[in-house]
Amino acid sequence: MRVNFKNRDIVAIDDFSKEDLEYLIQKTKEMRQRELSGQRYSNELKNKKLALLFYQDSTRTRTSFETAMKELGGDVCGFSGTEGTSVKKNESLYMTIKMYEANHADAIAIRHPKDGSVQWAADCAEVPVINCGDGANEHPTQAILDLCTIDHFHSGITGVNIGYGNDLKNGRTVHSDCIGLSKFPGVTLHLAAPEQLMMPDYLMALLESRGVKIVLHKTVRSAMQASEIYYQTRPQVNLEKRLTAAEMYRICEGHRITTKQIEGLSTKLMHPMPIDSHNEEIEFAVTFTKNQAFLLQAENGILSRKASLLEILKDTEYIRFKSSYCSDELNKSNNKVYLIRGENKNKGRRYIDEIDNGIAVDHIEIGMATEIEKSLNLESKRPTVLIGKNMRPYGKVNEPKKDVMKIFNIEPTQRIIKHILIKSPDATINVIRGGERVEKFKALLCENDNCITRDIPEDVPPKFYYEHDQVKCHYCRKPHSFNLSVTPEEKENYIKGLPKK
Ligand code: NCD
Repeated sequence: MRVNFKNRDIVAIDDFSKEDLEYLIQKTKEMRQRELSGQRYSNELKNKKLALLFYQDSTRTRTSFETAMKELGGDVCGFSGTEGTSVKKNESLYMTIKMYEANHADAIAIRHPKDGSVQWAADCAEVPVINCGDGANEHPTQAILDLCTIDHFHSGITGVNIGYGNDLKNGRTVHSDCIGLSKFPGVTLHLAAPEQLMMPDYLMALLESRGVKIVLHKTVRSAMQASEIYYQTRPQVNLEKRLTAAEMYRICEGHRITTKQIEGLSTKLMHPMPIDSHNEEIEFAVTFTKNQAFLLQAENGILSRKASLLEILKDTEYIRFKSSYCSDELNKSNNKVYLIRGENKNKGRRYIDEIDNGIAVDHIEIGMATEIEKSLNLESKRPTVLIGKNMRPYGKVNEPKKDVMKIFNIEPTQRIIKHILIKSPDATINVIRGGERVEKFKALLCENDNCITRDIPEDVPPKFYYEHDQVKCHYCRKPHSFNLSVTPEEKENYIKGLPKK
């Protein structure tokens, strides 16, 4: 196998081919052999440092990366929880990454609450970046260790019959696992989850498009009966926005695995851990049955992270921190759908009169203009802003009503565009300079509520790409519905300019 992991990021499991994954499974097996033959320690990563930036709680992932790095002769730095760091002083993810690079990190491992945050970190960093969980999005190193565990029981991944249960909506390990499994032929997924916590449609569609067979089950028992391995998950009470923790526990009650539920079954039980001991999605007594496989997963976590770190960092040169001029390439977005650019300056003159410089925002959802004003903190600055509420478009009696607003003497920065789009995604922005409209555009903002691009102070420039007839967010990779009111030509022109994956 000719696979090269040198200085490679681990951001999303989809970036890895079947051969890549098989290679890592093989390297993990070799790590186990080494350990069995008494070679737990080596000096292969001597003088290499891994920064562990854990914005969220962790036991296994953080400790196993630390164990892996130290047993290979390397060192670690970083934080476990943001208490006591400058994140508490609102330091952005970009600056935090740069500071750890300045402190000679040779690689950075991150766990962060926002989807897409680790792709952003990888774009910002010169050194390899490893995703240890980004919001509800992905946890690719967990997927690698899970694949190693599946491989152990099934002797390969091809053709496995595996169940996934409980919180399939928010569980990031499930998302990465299933995308990883979809690289192999003949995989059948048996899913059992409360309706509100079922796997997102976009993901099921992606898996099916790759030939994964998905069977939905009404009960845990039936899903476990159909599966060689059943992967149980914890209700992600910290991530779910539509349900309270109490509601989550209540709806997950019927999906718990008890000794009675597994009676007579040889199904192996996996769980990314932690098991929520209050909820007991796996009853404690089940730990002491032959079905238990989650401790092997934890062990594979250390071995597979040792294997990955070694592959990424062995024989690499030190990448010196660049403290001088930062190219603005990183700061470029591609989210503007232009309706007018440069030419056609006089059109719309009626609407833009009385404004020399600034922006005129049209087609704002009714009631949202004052919300945008509040969000931009402009209320105290009147008459910097003029608002028209519930207006009928001039001369167009059949068109729906809208709000409009003019804001004097501002440039439409991405921050300002985000403030507008979060409140009214289909708004049109006219840019006026010297009394003339120089641009008119709508803009895309990722529709995933938890995407890092919607966190305004992080200043992540919205970027999209085009894949399989869908516009997708560059960071969290979620499809964008693109239901803006633009003409088919305007949409096509926009899509033409997007990078393909
Ligand atoms: C998982 C996580 O953080 O996504 N834990 C882990 O890394 N093993 C699962 C969870 O917290 O439920």
